[in-house]
Parts: sequence; C-alpha cells; structure tokens
Amino acid sequence: MLEDLIQSQYFLQSVMGASNSSSLALLLVCSLWFLSDVVAAQHAGITRHYKFEIKLQNVTRLCHTKTIITVNGKFPGPRIIAREGDRVLVKVVNHVPNNISIHWHGIRQLRSGWADGPAYITQCPIQTGQSYVYNFTIIGQRGTLLWHAHISWLRATVYGPIIILPKHNTSYPFPKPHKEVPIIFGEWWNADTEAVISQALQTGAGPNVSDAYTINGLPGPLYNCSANETFKLKVKPRKRYMLRVINAALNDDLFFSIANHSLTVVDADGVYVKPFNADVILITPGQTSNVLLNTMPSAPNSSFLMLARPYFTGQGTFDNSTVAGVLEYEQPSKSNKTLSTIRPTLPQINDTSYAANFSRRFRSLANAQFPANVPQTVEKRFFFTVGLGSSPCPKNQTCQGPNGTEFAASVNNISFALPTKALLQAHFFGQSNGVYTNDFPSTPLMPYNYTGTPPNNTMVTNATKVVVLPFNTSVELVLQDTSILGAESHPLHLHGFNHFVVGQGFGNFDPNKDPSNFNLVDPVERNTVAVPSGGWVAIRFLADNPGVWFMHCHFDVHLSWGLRMAWVVMDGKLPNQKLPPPPSDLPKC
Ligand code: C2O
Repeated sequence: MLEDLIQSQYFLQSVMGASNSSSLALLLVCSLWFLSDVVAAQHAGITRHYKFEIKLQNVTRLCHTKTIITVNGKFPGPRIIAREGDRVLVKVVNHVPNNISIHWHGIRQLRSGWADGPAYITQCPIQTGQSYVYNFTIIGQRGTLLWHAHISWLRATVYGPIIILPKHNTSYPFPKPHKEVPIIFGEWWNADTEAVISQALQTGAGPNVSDAYTINGLPGPLYNCSANETFKLKVKPRKRYMLRVINAALNDDLFFSIANHSLTVVDADGVYVKPFNADVILITPGQTSNVLLNTMPSAPNSSFLMLARPYFTGQGTFDNSTVAGVLEYEQPSKSNKTLSTIRPTLPQINDTSYAANFSRRFRSLANAQFPANVPQTVEKRFFFTVGLGSSPCPKNQTCQGPNGTEFAASVNNISFALPTKALLQAHFFGQSNGVYTNDFPSTPLMPYNYTGTPPNNTMVTNATKVVVLPFNTSVELVLQDTSILGAESHPLHLHGFNHFVVGQGFGNFDPNKDPSNFNLVDPVERNTVAVPSGGWVAIRFLADNPGVWFMHCHFDVHLSWGLRMAWVVMDGKLPNQKLPPPPSDLPKC
C-alpha cells in the first residue's frame, strides 16, 4: 500500500552510483559478482526527489476560512516516503511573504548538518522567491518521523509525515500489517498563528490557545461545524493495521485511545521497541510511534471513536478540547445495521502517574540485529534545568506576564537568544565572534531547590551560548524540570542524535543515588524525551556527528520564550568524521 503511495506521489528516482571500476572488473570474471553488485546497489539505496512549493492556500475549519501557509497547497503537507539507505533531495521553493525553513525531525543528518533546517541554527531562512535543496541520506533508521517548518510558529500548518520503510528484503520485527495508516495530530487556530505569537511576545503574556486539535487535518464531530471534517479509518475484521502516530501539535502532549481496541506499541521515534500493549498512549509534540491495531473477528454493530486530548500540568491556560476520529468496520454488503458509537475513556488531564508509568514501559529491542548502543562510560556530564521564568518589562511599556513582567523560558536560566546569522556557518568558517560564545554552563550557576518553593528572583539571562564537544564525546545529560511558574512536562528534542533514556524520577535528581538505578541494558532510544512534570530525566548520547545541533522544548510557546540551546560538535581526525562544506545554494541572511 505504501509502495502504491510512493507511485502516486510526485517524485523521480534514480539508482545511486554504487558500481565502481573494481566491480566492473569482477563483472567480467563471473556473473555472480554482477548479481552481488546489484544487491549492493539496492542496499546503497536510491535517490528520491521531492519538490516542496511553499504556497498560500485558503482552508476552512470550524466554519472559519483563513489563508494558511502550506506545502504544495496541502494541509497537512505531503508525505515523504523513503527506504532506509535512500538519499532524499527536497527542493523547497518559497512563494510566500514569510521566511521559511524546513526541518526533517528525527533524521540523524550524519555529516549533512546543512540540511537539518532550524532557522538561524544550521541555515539562514529561505527568503521569498528563493529556494534551497535539502540533501540527506537516511542511515540506520526506519519507522515514522515528521517534517515541519522550523521558524517562528509556521509549523502550525507546515508539517507532514516522513515514512521510512525497512530496506528491501528486510522485514519488521513484528507480524506484517495488512495496511499502514499515518495518524498525524495537529493544532488549529481560527486566528493567524503568526499574529498570536507576535502579540504574545509583545505583551509578555501567554499566547492564545488553539481552537481545536486535528487528526490528519480534521477536527471531528466534537467541535462546532466539523462533523463533515472527521477522519475515518475503515477497517476489515481480523486484520492487523499499523498506525504511524505523529504528534505535530504545537503546544500539547496528547492522550490517544480507540474505544474497545488495545494498541501494541512497536516503535518510538523511528526505533523499534519491545512491543507492549496499551489502551491509551501518550505522545508529546515531536514524538512519533508506530502502533499495531488488531481488528475484531467479525464486523461489530458499532463504530468506535478514536479520541485525543491533552495531558497538562502547567499553570497557564491550554486548549482543553478533544479531537475525534472514527474507526468503522466494513459491514457485510446486505446488512442494514444502525451502528452505535462507542467512546473510549481517557485518563484525567493531569494524570502524571499515567504519564510516568507509560514512559517507563518503552524499552529498546537490544538484540543482535537492533542493539542498544548506549554509552557505558561517560566523558562529559551535564545537568540542565528546564522551565519557565520571566524577563523585566521594557521601560515605558506595560507587560501582561507574571507580576507585570514578560514570560520567558530557559535552560540553566539562560534564555537562548536567536542570532541573526546561522550558527553552523559561523562555526564552520571560524566566525563565531559576535555570533555566539562557548560558555554555556554545564550546571546551574545558582543552585536552588528546583522542584521546591521557587526562588524570589526568577529573572532569566538572555544570551547565545553553546556547549562545544570534541568528536565522539560520550555525554550524559540530566534534564531537571523546575517549579518556577508551575512544574510542567517539557518535551525536549535533540537534533542530530538519538539519545538513550537511562533514568527518570520525580523531585530533584540525586547524583549520589539515582545513577545506580540507570538502565544501561535496554533503554529506549529516541529523539524527543518528556521531562517529567516536577521531575527529571537522564539521557546519554555519543557525539559522533560533527555540526551544530539545536536542543529545545518542542512546545513552540516555550521554544519562542527561549527554552533552547545548541551543541557544537567538532570534526574528528578522519576524513569521514568531518562536516563537508555547505552546498552552494545555502540561503544567506
Ligand atoms: Cu521538531 Cu527543532 O524540531
């Protein structure tokens, strides 16, 4: 089915040059060698070409028509489909007034950091009338990821699935599904989202919350005027379906459940996990998960709602609404049954123990074919607080944030200021002067009881600071939530690497006690981890990818407030450990 989809989408492909002169010589010797060369070519993958035209498009949801920014006029955007080992070229052409850049969220970008996409980190944005070709190869990854705009709040409408199939002649480590279906959650505002965030940054207040959540762009029957805009999944009895679940919402973790059907989680962030069953899954923005759905032995007399609504523990307002889709069985042709509709039950909005128990169930396969290469020893340790804070109100202005200040967010109390030039170029050409400094603190400069009563002074520092890591450093990073302006779960996303989640807990991390409980055997490997509300999470990763790598909260509101920082990973000594120079069409600021 996916292969059919590939055929139906706009794309061209060509076999990458895997043959070389030495294989040509062997070819003369024996045709078997020729066959093995063909196999090698298949393993090297093909090149897939996509074109993303960034265009305005009128879209109506909740009886509200507005002009949104889209890729190729589609909302949600088109699917990128590739196989592990393939090279992907995406030509992005900007036809809208806004600057744009696209991020391939979760793609490791091994030595292709110029294609990562976050604006002012790895590239300047693509300006109106300009284009840029993102060029990367998918190495050692398969599953579901997502792509999205990575500038301001444009990802509200500019997002879509990345589907990575296993290599040819390689099967899933679970029974083959009858069909595969992307389920991509989004968030819909009746208002213009660029106005929403710019107004919030002006006044210092929290931004207006969304009006609806969507499944594959559709809000569903629980919203005004939306019954006709409902995602329907038609299924046959006695079949296995694989849902490729993606949370592309801006600011909300989501619980998701299908009435009377259990889900089997088999993958997280494009990495297989030990399968486990769950009636309800929890997914943060930036996370993806493949889940299997077994249908009933025969078509029942009901249809089943699939619902998603937020998990939220913060102090501010949030969109407390519910998106619904419908799971419908194909009925035998003569039947004229009237179907009842069954609703699933979801956990309480603030059910933190559900969240903690659910996230503890993720384990790597950790077998010979899919090992968990978690660093067993650590060269550099970091302890980062993540959370909210405030900034003083500018003179002669009134601010609507906490106690007349402006809302801010920080890592180790540093609210990262976006530079006006891209960090990666500054690093690559040795021009960091005046762009960034290398002194991002490895621990908080002023320790306090992070999850206790907040300190009196909650003002953040604005700066563009990075951590510099020598090539191949093994890193352990503890991310500690703070209770400043309310404890809250933060989905932390690391670009350029997958990381292993070796431990988590509530309260303050204890460096003397907690590490003895770390899982160094089969920890889950992901690109986005939820820092528990009022707790901490410990991750490890190997800095084997030279470049500049953004790390940030995947709630766009916290990202905009400064909950972001960057790692600079130096080149190694060998030629294949160095970042190549930028492509000639890299956008200029
Ligand atoms: Cu999906 Cu830097 O984000």
